[in-house]
Formats: sequence, C-alpha cells, structure tokens
Amino acid sequence: MKVTVIGANGQLGSDLVAAFSGKGYVVSALTHSDMEISDLPSVSRVLGNIRPQVIVNTAAMHHVENCEREPEKAFVVNALGPRNLALVARELDAVLLHVSTDYVFDGSKGSPYFEGDEPRPLNAYGITKLAGEHFVRATTAKQFVVRTSGLYGKSPCRAKGGLNFIELMLKLAKERGEVRVVDSEVVSPTSTAELAEQLVQLSRSDCYGLYHATAEGSCSWYEFAREIFAITDTPVRLKVAGPDEFPAKVARPKYSVLENRALKSRGLNAFKPWQDGLHKYLGNRIKSTSSPISS
Ligand SMILES: NC(=O)c1ccc[n+]([C@@H]2O[C@H](COP(=O)([O-])OP(=O)(O)OC[C@H]3O[C@@H](n4cnc5c(N)ncnc54)[C@H](OP(=O)(O)O)[C@@H]3O)[C@@H](O)[C@H]2O)c1
Repeated sequence: MKVTVIGANGQLGSDLVAAFSGKGYVVSALTHSDMEISDLPSVSRVLGNIRPQVIVNTAAMHHVENCEREPEKAFVVNALGPRNLALVARELDAVLLHVSTDYVFDGSKGSPYFEGDEPRPLNAYGITKLAGEHFVRATTAKQFVVRTSGLYGKSPCRAKGGLNFIELMLKLAKERGEVRVVDSEVVSPTSTAELAEQLVQLSRSDCYGLYHATAEGSCSWYEFAREIFAITDTPVRLKVAGPDEFPAKVARPKYSVLENRALKSRGLNAFKPWQDGLHKYLGNRIKSTSSPISS
C-alpha cells in the first residue's frame, strides 16, 4: 500500500510517517516545498506521479490570529486546499483522510460534542476549516474527515512555532519558579503519536465519514499543567491566571471537548485517557534526552 502524508514534517505529519512506515506502508512524505495544496495543478502533478492509495492531509493555515488577519488566505489553504486534494483523490480513486479541528464548534454546549452536533465556528480559522470539511465530504466518497484537538507531539507545531504546551510549562517552571495558567478553556489534550496510530487504523477500514478523534476525558489548561508538573515532580508554584491576564485577540471556544462517538460505535476507538498519553510522552522524553526532565 502506498500512502502519501501531506505536511510530513509537521507535528502530526511526522508521527503519521512513522506510524504508517511501522505498519509496512510505502510512505511518500510530502512537505510544503514538495506541493502547495492550494494550487490544483501542483496537487494534480505531484499526486498523479505518486499515485497513492491513501492520502492523508495535515496541512493547514492554523495560526488562529493569522487566519483572522488574512481570512482570504486562510480560506484558500483550509478550504480550497482540501477541495483540490479531494478532486485529485477522486480522480485517482484514492482514499482521502483529512484532519480538521474542534474549533468548528463555539463551545456553548458545555458537554462533549458529537459528530452530529451543529458546528458554529467563532473565528476565521474554524470557519475555513469547516468549509474544507464540506468540500471534502461533497467532492469524494472515499473520505474520512477527522476532527481532533489540543495536539502535542515530539516535533514542534510548525504553524505556531516554538514549544508545545508541555515543553513551555517545563521551561517556564525552570526559569521562573512560578507559572500562571488559564483555567477557563477546557480541552482534550491529544498526543500526536496516539492520534497517528488511530488514523492508520481508521484508514484501513472502509467506514468513511466524519469522526472525532481525541484522547478520552478533558481538562483545563491549568489542570493539564498541574498534571505535567506532578508527573515530572517539578518544583513550581502553579497559579490560576486571572481572567484579564492573557486577553484573547481572537474569540475561541471555551469548551471544545469532542466525544469519539463514531469511532466507538464502529468498535474502532483506540484512545486512552489523556493522562496516559501525557505519561507516555514524558517517558519517551526522558529516554530521548540524556539529561533528566528537571535539569
Ligand atoms: N495543533 C493543534 O493543536 C491542532 C488542534 C486541532 C486540529 N489541528 C489540525 O491538525 C493538523 C495538523 O496540525 P499540526 O500541529 O501537525 O500542524 P503543523 O506542525 O503546523 O504542520 C502543518 C504542515 O502542513 C504544511 N503546510 C502548511 N500549509 C501548507 C500548504 N498550503 N501546502 C502544503 N503544505 C502546507 C506545513 O509546512 P510549512 O510549515 O513549511 O508551511 C507543515 O508541514 C492541521 O490541519 C490543524 O488544523 C491541530
């Protein structure tokens, strides 16, 4: 089986390349310099040469503030990009697995969102990603649209730059001794290594459609930080940040927990509680560095 991973040097893409390779797939790992998803001739030429059976798209413009500043550009990448991929996937009779986001919801539900809940995005990022979902679902039959949330992995998120939340917390604790984190946004922090394994499994089925795919359970960013410091035994004063301490420049959902209902109903859900993914990430982090976490 030939699979093409788009955004292969990204946070999720790099784990997808490892997960598919580990299962014996022939993987073509495409980066932005190999193909521009918003350019149909580029997509058609590159994928036409490879002729994969499975195409996985992680590429997106997903820096929320940049999307708000440049909504047209965000639409071209997040909506027309997936449309181009769907057109070419249909032409090649390939399966398209497209990654979307919890930010299609406004967060007002206050309990976990199911695939059937009505999306109501609050910002340009969410609106353009939702448009991408519609293009994919309307264009080709052999498609999976998979919404996920709160990703962290061993490769940094390229769109956001810098460190993931876990690395940032550990760095701030070491440098400042006190860390202040918001308690008002609730998510399901999801390990890209675990998500990648889940996506490989899903892509092997023919249960096409819309899926939520996140770690089980939920927490606020404050609770996530507390767990990081507890597991790593990091000496730090952790405080809840005040409501005006980190004012959001763009509206975001306060509650974006997804329930993996479609995965569960098909007996495909492989996710564990979010604490398990965090433990594994921190364990691998110790193994991969010669120095201990708190040094
Ligand atoms: N990160 C999260 O917490 C989160 C949460 C929910 C959903 N998601 C979704 O998950 C997906 C993957 O996220 P991630 O954190 O792995 O992102 P990432 O690290 O920023 O990786 C995205 C990859 O896509 C490439 N790319 C961007 N624009 C492209 C374009 N127009 N054409 C071709 N390639 C392009 C990037 O290359 P360059 O950097 O070289 O441009 C990069 O390799 C995204 O679709 C995002 O919407 C992310």
